[in-house]
Amino acid sequence: MLIANWKSNGSKAMAKNWFNKFFEKYNFKNEETFIGIAPPFVYIEQINILKKSNINTGLQDIEPFSGARTGAISADMALDLECCFSIIGHSERRELYKESNNQIKEKIINLDNKIIPILCVGETEKENIAGKTKQVIQNQLEIIKDYELHDLFTVAYEPVWAIGSGKTPHAEEINEIHKFIKDVVQSISTNDLVPDVLYGGSVTHKNASSFFNQDFVDGALIGGASLDGSIFAEIVNIYNGTKNK
Ligand code: 13P
Repeated sequence: MLIANWKSNGSKAMAKNWFNKFFEKYNFKNEETFIGIAPPFVYIEQINILKKSNINTGLQDIEPFSGARTGAISADMALDLECCFSIIGHSERRELYKESNNQIKEKIINLDNKIIPILCVGETEKENIAGKTKQVIQNQLEIIKDYELHDLFTVAYEPVWAIGSGKTPHAEEINEIHKFIKDVVQSISTNDLVPDVLYGGSVTHKNASSFFNQDFVDGALIGGASLDGSIFAEIVNIYNGTKNK
């Protein structure tokens, strides 16, 4: 699974140009790979027209309920626009909009299997230096304790200090954290789910293969490098060459 998180970037012109560049570079041989684009919501309809085959659209954040929730995009609206996944609990939502673990939990447990949740977890630089990475992640995952999870429930491990910084943990460290995440989710969910775990944080076409070569890395959640259709396609091709040979 490879997800492009465009964050608050893009325009109508950019979307059109993005797909031209993507399809020029994308190797169509591995159609089974789940490719997702999470653009700003206002561009989803345009992207639905431009996209093909195994490309899916999704949200960067979601509100499970419709009604009196000013500014929010509800799960029913997402379904209406054929979105099938949503990023939830991104560190930018946690930091800039003060989203708490409890609010993130409410989103996940009220989605009722309508939309695939991609839950973001990850430690800050300070927590990393203090050796608290696993403790922080365990705490962020506790919100799904005793719940039956969507079969495709996915976790994205995004160390906060790696986002947009050009820095990343070593591939082996990422692999170890992904194994830890899989074990924790399996032990606390009622359906013993072993989730796919994506890595996010300064992934580019230059370092992607080092991550995809790790056994427990099931894909990537990509910010900056996903804004160029050609580079994103190259990352997808690298993934297909490594995981779906
Ligand atoms: P960058 O790829 O720009 O580091 O962003 C990662 C991210 O936050 C994806 O959700």
